Amino acid sequence: MNHIILGIETSCDETSAAIYSTQNGLHSHIIFSQRQHEQFGGVLPEACSRTQLEKIRPVVQQALQDARMQLDDITAVAVTHKPGLPGSLLVGTSFAKSLAWAKKKQLIGVNHLEGHAFSAFLEHPNIPFPHLCITASGGHTAMYLVRGFGDYEVIGHTIDDAAGEAFDKIGRMIGLPYPGGPKIEKRAREMDFQDFFNYPRAKKPTLNFSFSGLKTAVLYDLAKRGKYDLKNKTLLDDSEELKNHVSSSLLVCIADVFEQKLKLAFKAYPDVQALTFVGGVACNKYITNRLAHFAQQRGKSFFSPSKFEFCTDNAAMIAFVGHYKAQQNKFSDFDLDILQ
Ligand code: KG4
Ligand code: ZN
Repeated sequence: MNHIILGIETSCDETSAAIYSTQNGLHSHIIFSQRQHEQFGGVLPEACSRTQLEKIRPVVQQALQDARMQLDDITAVAVTHKPGLPGSLLVGTSFAKSLAWAKKKQLIGVNHLEGHAFSAFLEHPNIPFPHLCITASGGHTAMYLVRGFGDYEVIGHTIDDAAGEAFDKIGRMIGLPYPGGPKIEKRAREMDFQDFFNYPRAKKPTLNFSFSGLKTAVLYDLAKRGKYDLKNKTLLDDSEELKNHVSSSLLVCIADVFEQKLKLAFKAYPDVQALTFVGGVACNKYITNRLAHFAQQRGKSFFSPSKFEFCTDNAAMIAFVGHYKAQQNKFSDFDLDILQ
């Protein structure tokens, strides 16, 4: 059966819609990004949901138009219903329910993290099972054992900050605007990824992640070097050199942390055939290359979205998950909730 899925994603600050079908894969994909966070230094929930309320219809309409389709052509509406900002999730979920109800289509609630976990399939449809998946973004960081479509288990998660959050918070500490990740990568590249400050790595690593300790370690290291005033919370050295050295040391440290976890996971799950690396932090080419090399050296294939828009929040991954759920006959009731 040819399922044609309209996917909708509004869990954080993006408003996104996509069409995915059994016959042709991804037909269209629209993302409206607010970018207001650069101005406010983070995501402002109320501003997100209000913009989504305004943008959801034109974004969905554009996705249909690009796919040369009408609502009647769709077989089901898939929507991110958790986890995320409640106001934002309500916009997407209510819109999806209304469309599905009015047009008598099936509704499919998709977990945002499941969307990320399968996002590498958008470009690489034949990733073998079982495989490991590391998903790392500003809101979440976890490792999954993936046995099949929709069949996955969390084997490690962050006990405090997410990896992207570490880049953003430490970036802010050294005066880099939000989001810190891309700026830190750029500076680290200029430094040839040298490790100047040797920030601490876990002595007894587990499969769980913890990035808040790293943030404190960087702070105290800066203070020890006389570059940060802990009392007044101010950076005392605004030089490019310091920003570059912290950026480079931090990126190498975080890549090492991922490798440490991966080493443990490959040992604990020797049957896995591949590794996928997804989420906003997977935009980072240094980490991606290190993980690809690490996996391939151990005989595992490696997959990561090559397009940044498939790493960060997007409706294409939601439509993809919606598609296999439709094939599996896993539809949602209209009382679909946004509870975490
Ligand atoms: O997936 P995403 O757009 O939003 C969440 O669901 O959180 O991810 C955004 C996160 C931010 O924390 C940002 O700093 C990080 O991804 N990020 C990066 C890079 N590009 C984006 N982190 C490291 N290196 C990058 N090049
Ligand atoms: Zn996300």
